[in-house]
Amino acid sequence: MEYVLETTPVNTLHTDCLIIGVYKDLQLTHSATSLNENILNIINKVLARGDNNGELACTLLINALPDSSIERILLVGLGDQKALSSKNFRKALQAVFLSLKKTQVKLATCTLADVDVCDSDRQWKTRQIIEIANDTAYQFTTYKSNKDVDFNVDKITVTAPESELALAQLGLSQGIAIADGINLTKLLSDLPGNICTPTYLAEQAIALGSQYDKLSINVLEEADMEQLGMGALLSVSRGSRQPAKLITLDYQGGDKNVKPIVLIGKGLTFDAGGISLKPGLGMDEMKYDMCGGATVLGTLKAAAEMQLPLNIIGLIPSSENLPDGDANKPGDILISMSGKTIEVLNTDAEGRLLLCDTLTYAERFNPDVVIDMATLTGACLVALGRVPSGLLGNCDALCNDLIAASEVANDSLWRLPLWEEYQEQLKSNFADLANIGGKDAGTITAACFLSQFAEKFNWAHLDIAGTAWRTGQNKGATGRPVPLLTQYLLNRAYG
Ligand code: BES
Ligand code: MN
Ligand code: ZN
Repeated sequence: MEYVLETTPVNTLHTDCLIIGVYKDLQLTHSATSLNENILNIINKVLARGDNNGELACTLLINALPDSSIERILLVGLGDQKALSSKNFRKALQAVFLSLKKTQVKLATCTLADVDVCDSDRQWKTRQIIEIANDTAYQFTTYKSNKDVDFNVDKITVTAPESELALAQLGLSQGIAIADGINLTKLLSDLPGNICTPTYLAEQAIALGSQYDKLSINVLEEADMEQLGMGALLSVSRGSRQPAKLITLDYQGGDKNVKPIVLIGKGLTFDAGGISLKPGLGMDEMKYDMCGGATVLGTLKAAAEMQLPLNIIGLIPSSENLPDGDANKPGDILISMSGKTIEVLNTDAEGRLLLCDTLTYAERFNPDVVIDMATLTGACLVALGRVPSGLLGNCDALCNDLIAASEVANDSLWRLPLWEEYQEQLKSNFADLANIGGKDAGTITAACFLSQFAEKFNWAHLDIAGTAWRTGQNKGATGRPVPLLTQYLLNRAYG
């Protein structure tokens, strides 16, 4: 998809489809009012028929206009004539791009960045148009013989007045960088476990590194991890024929002596549960247990593309979790890299075993903050559903920064408590801690487990079990929480 800015006045445009907003009392947005009289009359006539009453996100396609270089007009309702909330603005945009599906429109021109949106400037609005168009356009067709897509738009132009061109330009370039990052995350996430193995993820990271001067990649093999004493991480991969990898992405966009932001992503390319085998129903979705890792790759791609003046380290511990004669068994005791011993009471609580050694490994980067992303607990779905990601952490300032970023990015978070009372649940009779905390508060006890390996730095944990992919008929990766993380990085760089 190509995205460009359009400064030509709307009445002299050439386009397959011009997208125009209309408010509830059938008032057109001011970008429409400069259309020539002939077209305006047609729009008003159509509106007068009452087929589109300006209700939020209601769309109407005017499919033919006589003697015009504008082939079609898509009207979209914006609700009451006042500044839109950012959520409603996004709803209208989603409706716009959905309604272009199954049409033959190739070039669409969007005037909606001209609409007033609360607390939002042209940069943000331009970016949202690109992010939402990109979301609609994404289809995972790699393994379909018939690659026909139902979204034919291949170029979107976003209108901008000369006076705001600089802001629009920033929004455009950031939007494209973030959209490309999200696409990488979605693609890797949607790939099946037989293709997207730990080795494949490592290769993808190396390929990404070769695209950007400031991004370098290092991959630790099992022998290297053995040397480091990563007994928890390695115990999970013992049950798999695919070798584990610990992938480091090192983006140096800031001064050498500035402490890095460390992003850690769980990279389980398939989680069958191990000896504590999961039930069969829906197990295919455990190919998505590497969405945290895919988020790290997508976020670093976006950061490198935007050339953010920050130092960022991405860490992806990657493995499979399968039953095997050499797999972890309930009751096994592991020695983690930190020296803490762990009793494995359930081999399906494997994510925390990979993450704990990666958190210890993160200490050597002298991090400013550490943020991990993981499809860590089914309990997060029970607590929060598929709307926000769970947020837990040991630093209020970091958590608040993430919440602020999530609001701008429309990629929501909800904080859960990480009180020490919950640590009780992780007591083990035989080791320093157990890898599960019983049936209550599963998302919190998982984070409590991680917190014991994150004592030396400011740390936040995002449980993305409910948000990284959609289930059911529309099954597919969402690319979350790349929008939130890229916004956090933008705020850190320029905020
Ligand atoms: N990857 C799963 C968590 C998960 C399950 C995410 C379903 C999304 C949907 C994780 O490794 C896991 O199996 N967690 C266990 C922990 C339990 C054994 C304490 C879970 O949630 O059941
Ligand atoms: Mn598991
Ligand atoms: Zn898992």
